[in-house]
Amino acid sequence: MFLCLADGNRSEVLRRILEERMPEITFAERESGVDPHAVRFMLTWEQPVHLADLYPNLEVLFCIGAGVDHFAFDSLPSRLRVVRMVEPGLTEQMQHYAVMGVLTLARDLPAYQAQQRECIWRQLPSRTPASLCVSVMGLGHIGRAVLEALRQFGYRLRGWSRTPHVIEGVDCYSGPEELPRFLAETNILICLLPLTDETRGLLSVETLSTLPRGASVINMARGAHLVQEAVVTLLDSNHLDRVILDVTDPEPLPPQNPLWKHERVIITPHIAGNTIMESAAGYIIANLDRYRKGLLLDGEVDRHKGY
Ligand code: GLV
Repeated sequence: MFLCLADGNRSEVLRRILEERMPEITFAERESGVDPHAVRFMLTWEQPVHLADLYPNLEVLFCIGAGVDHFAFDSLPSRLRVVRMVEPGLTEQMQHYAVMGVLTLARDLPAYQAQQRECIWRQLPSRTPASLCVSVMGLGHIGRAVLEALRQFGYRLRGWSRTPHVIEGVDCYSGPEELPRFLAETNILICLLPLTDETRGLLSVETLSTLPRGASVINMARGAHLVQEAVVTLLDSNHLDRVILDVTDPEPLPPQNPLWKHERVIITPHIAGNTIMESAAGYIIANLDRYRKGLLLDGEVDRHKGY
């Protein structure tokens, strides 16, 4: 049995596609009324409480999202395979959001909006794409896709990750020792890291101060990557120019949080990339097929790494 704990519309879509393409799999949309012993596959965002005791025969746990940092891996049986969402619909949205953010900053849209509020018609000096260095932290599936989408604009591109990568047309850096060099010439920094013990709070005063004066930051990974006080301090001292946040810690961001009203911060409510079930269903079905054939699963989480 496949137990789908997605919201109603997404469940409906997955049910329709699974029934068509894998009719041999029984599908359930809620926990109530289901024989927990029959559940072998589950799709969920929240990990159900007492999951291990409640579903002793669960074999594959699919996460609805790309990030699995909210799963309590210690409480999950070691034989349980955990899969994060790597689906084209979500990846495409992340590419679009990153492009929107970079162009917004590179073409000074927020400054023109501020001028508009004062009825000021003034052209700001424009910068050539080649004069801007756009850098992505996190070179997983989404990080690489975002760099690919940015390639067409002619910016200088950089990437940083835990382990070394080679990406054509991108200057790649790795490990903590190369982080200062990676940041030193970055004008627009995009965070797409997985959230782990190593990356929590990585965007701190120390690291963000390494960016050149006037740099901007886009966080579309997890709120806990970024130390909020650091952002406010560095914006107020004009070290940072602008910050675009699609994620905050906590979410929703409390109304009294100063970031809401900061004139050089743009906030969106965690909408950069959402799983589109029409395309995610294909990914889930392909993985169920791979599982049946005893093959490695796409997007399988390495518990030691935490992503
Ligand atoms: C959303 O943040 C996700 O992890 O997919």
